[in-house]
Amino acid sequence: MLTARLSGLRPLHFIVLCAVALFVLIPWLTFEWHPEIGEHVLGASSRLLGKKPPPETKKPFEPEYYDWRTRSQFQPVRQNVNNKSVEELCQSFPRHLLQDIQPVLKTGHGVLETRVRTQLRSASACIDDLLIFSDIDEIFEDREVIDVVGDLRKDYIQGNDQLPDYLAQKELADNGTLTEGNPAHIKGWALDKFKFLPQISRAWRMRPEKRWYVFFEADTYIVWDNMFRLLANYDPDVPLYFGSPSPSLAGTWMGNGGPGYVLSRETVRRLVKDDFDENGAYAGCKLCERWESEMMTNCCGDSIVGWAVHEDAATNLSGLWPMFNPHPLHGVPFSKLYWCEPVISMHKTTPEDTIGLWKWEESRREAFRPLLYADMIQYLNLTDVELRVDWDNADWDGYPAPKDGDAYNSFEDCGEACKDDKNCFQWNYHLKRCTLVKSIRLGSAREAQVDSKKPEVLEKDWSHEDQRFMAGWDIERIREWIDHHQCDRPHWVRPSTERIF
Ligand SMILES: *[C@@H]1O[C@H](CO)[C@@H](O)[C@H](O)[C@H]1NC(C)=O
Ligand SMILES: *[C@@H]1O[C@H](CO)[C@@H](O)[C@H](O)[C@H]1NC(C)=O
Ligand SMILES: *[C@@H]1O[C@H](CO)[C@@H](O)[C@H](O)[C@H]1NC(C)=O
Ligand SMILES: *[C@@H]1O[C@H](CO)[C@@H](O)[C@H](O)[C@H]1NC(C)=O
Repeated sequence: MLTARLSGLRPLHFIVLCAVALFVLIPWLTFEWHPEIGEHVLGASSRLLGKKPPPETKKPFEPEYYDWRTRSQFQPVRQNVNNKSVEELCQSFPRHLLQDIQPVLKTGHGVLETRVRTQLRSASACIDDLLIFSDIDEIFEDREVIDVVGDLRKDYIQGNDQLPDYLAQKELADNGTLTEGNPAHIKGWALDKFKFLPQISRAWRMRPEKRWYVFFEADTYIVWDNMFRLLANYDPDVPLYFGSPSPSLAGTWMGNGGPGYVLSRETVRRLVKDDFDENGAYAGCKLCERWESEMMTNCCGDSIVGWAVHEDAATNLSGLWPMFNPHPLHGVPFSKLYWCEPVISMHKTTPEDTIGLWKWEESRREAFRPLLYADMIQYLNLTDVELRVDWDNADWDGYPAPKDGDAYNSFEDCGEACKDDKNCFQWNYHLKRCTLVKSIRLGSAREAQVDSKKPEVLEKDWSHEDQRFMAGWDIERIREWIDHHQCDRPHWVRPSTERIF
């Protein structure tokens, strides 16, 4: 019948009909809807290929990373940072984005003066509406610090043999004898795992329906510009959970707490659905109640969150390592693994680095290019400094130099051994041992000492010179490697739990 009808068409009509059909068909055949990013993605569509391939084989059109064009929302994008106050520097911060994105800082009374103060004078300084969740209610630097352990059931807290320090600290606060820092007998870290679920519930209660909730700790360094660029590419009404993957319960993955993790609005909705009655009134942290026994037996709060997200929100981690990264700045082992990827977060960065890096970030930000690992080489002076004394640059990615040459005779000979090995970028000489290193890395200061567990090494009579840590860098090779590894495009890595720390 179709041919009969078509034969009735005039040629011009036929051409128009074909053109319309192609216009509709071609996009349908070549673009696929990807709900996880809320986008159509160009590729050899599985519609053309017929049946979907089995899930364990990677689809051919999936590159390792997205080719996003992103734009900074900071205005101005960069500024002269000399002699500027924190308030002045913060004027460029895109505060309007915080209508949609809720940063949540988890901490404890014991580290307010150290870590939280640093955080509030650097990367988090510009976040006026930062939620600070802790183990006691107090005011710190004019900001409200909220006890979320108290959101657990009273009975659960009272009889709990893992929470006596919470009650002891409260007693000190109530009678006015709680001092700065950690009172010696209070083990603040023991309370930590009990804050993870209440903080999710409390964040929603205080700031409901934000698109994204970004959970981090006082010693997490977040490159907010990159965080904003990332989140702009995802749909908050899809259940999403971003972070650096670590193994959790029953073969699942959790977002490591140190570099922080992000939950989409839909994920939090699912987690807290029972915390509010049908009128929207708060009914207690039911999320916490569901996992009371897990909180007792699991060592770690991030693992409890991973499991709760898996069970209650039917959501798996979208692993974004190395953009979310457990290394501190001075410990990043720059190599192909940490290079063209945007830096979103780092853990345990020192207070000096945190302040320094924040100002440097302000001074060199680029509108269309996120901060990449490759860029931080400049901040760390890794192409300039050839030698550091009393410095350990080989406590990661190190391997012993070959024993058959002269490498063990002196620091200089050790350096020669590095030059002779094409995989070596830097070296360390300590106790007449020569360690070569296959990544480009700063490391940290280290006092002279005998670093060994072997009795025969410990027994020896080492001179002070022998005990020192002598660090060398082959800056020629480093520069050459950098020249050959220019980043044309940022690698916004696609979620994976195979690519892990
Ligand atoms: C910063 O301020 C000090 C004191 O006011 C001044 O001496 C110095 O030149 C200023 N530095 C810059 C880079 O503007
Ligand atoms: C406050 O409480 C602590 C802990 O129970 C106790 O050791 C201390 O004596 C109390 N101080 C005052 C002034 O009540
Ligand atoms: C989560 O991961 C498990 C194991 O890989 C898989 O069986 C399950 O379908 C995933 N769940 C979702 C919602 O993607
Ligand atoms: C890099 O070198 C500059 C100039 O010598 C110095 O001011 C800065 O502190 C160095 N940065 C680091 C992270 O060591």
